[in-house]
Amino acid sequence: MQQVPETKFQTIPPRILLGPGPMMVPPRVLQAMVNPMIGYLDPDFISIMEEVSDLLKIVYSTKSATTMALSGTGSAGMEAGLNSILEPNDVVVMCIHGFFCERQFEMATRVGANVIPLRSDWGKPFPPDLLEKEIKKHKNVKLVTTVQAETSTGILQPLEDLSKIAKNHDALFMVDAVTSLGANPVEFDSVGIDYAYSATQKGLACPPGLSPAAISNNALNAIKNRQTKPSSWYLDLGLISDYWGDAHTYHHTAPVTMILALRESLKIIVEEGLQNRFDRHNLNASALRAGLEALGLTVVSQNGYRLSQITPFTIPKNIDCVEGRKILLREFGIEIGRGLGEFAEKVWRVGLMGESSKPEYVLNLLAALEKLLPRYGNEIEPGSALSAASRILSDN
Ligand SMILES: Cc1ncc(COP(=O)(O)O)c(C=O)c1O
Repeated sequence: MQQVPETKFQTIPPRILLGPGPMMVPPRVLQAMVNPMIGYLDPDFISIMEEVSDLLKIVYSTKSATTMALSGTGSAGMEAGLNSILEPNDVVVMCIHGFFCERQFEMATRVGANVIPLRSDWGKPFPPDLLEKEIKKHKNVKLVTTVQAETSTGILQPLEDLSKIAKNHDALFMVDAVTSLGANPVEFDSVGIDYAYSATQKGLACPPGLSPAAISNNALNAIKNRQTKPSSWYLDLGLISDYWGDAHTYHHTAPVTMILALRESLKIIVEEGLQNRFDRHNLNASALRAGLEALGLTVVSQNGYRLSQITPFTIPKNIDCVEGRKILLREFGIEIGRGLGEFAEKVWRVGLMGESSKPEYVLNLLAALEKLLPRYGNEIEPGSALSAASRILSDN
């Protein structure tokens, strides 16, 4: 008999997950995953898919879109949109204000589209007049893209003006809602979004593995009327929407366990109420910012456009960016995120999304920072961060 190699971490050590995702997962969602297996075309499973699709309509604030959960992480949703909507040489104008906008750009170039990148400063929202000036120079722009919640910079990008400009030029509007769904309003219908994709591991408080998406009838028509087939069969939104739509035409074996998890997490969101959930995110983020500021740390995203679910701040003096995060993990069991792209080695990022957006986690992290900073010669007043945060939490 073959010797089984020694298993490491058979039981996952407990962590407080305050990075860019995955986030903490509510026990109800984990319990939903220990159901028996079921066939992906079983009529009972089809009715579960329909329930998920209806719940997604609520969180995406849409009545008319087709909603579905793509098999794959947020990047699969991104790739599905760009591969399905764009044909080689189609013109796409990309509003780029951070690391994940750059990923959209990289994917669009691989599709062979005629890509027009418009870049603006990191840590600030993308200015709509940049799009207005550029889009006029091109005929037949098929698609305008952006990221609503830029996880790399902590910026909440206003969408209304970008969408209007796209519509005025008969272009479709695609939005990355990976970090926004479940933590910010994503007003699919009223903003006029044509395709949005998200990921389960952030504001939805679910394990990673699915990309919940919504697509408008206009975008679906554009896909159905393509001259050429999308180069990816697996990520063809036309085929996937036939599987999630009324016909339920077989496409691929759905990851049923993840879909059960997503259903539970969406039910929890609807039970909490969208506005209550957004308010909770705002309150905990305000407490965190107050605590960080009391420690002399600066939040780098522009005030007025700050995401509540992700807070990038300057790394405390004399602390190595990798070593400091390691100490937080090993000594305090807290995971926070590193900086990406232009912000690499300049900032740390704290994610307070979904189940991780709780006062106790904010206070835990601030208490850990109060212990860590003086070790590296950063003078702080003991208790200052905790009391700044507690004041906000108890006032509200
Ligand atoms: C805004 C944004 N878009 C896309 C992605 C990629 O998602 P995933 O890692 O689930 O593929 C991320 C991941 O952090 C993200 O924050």
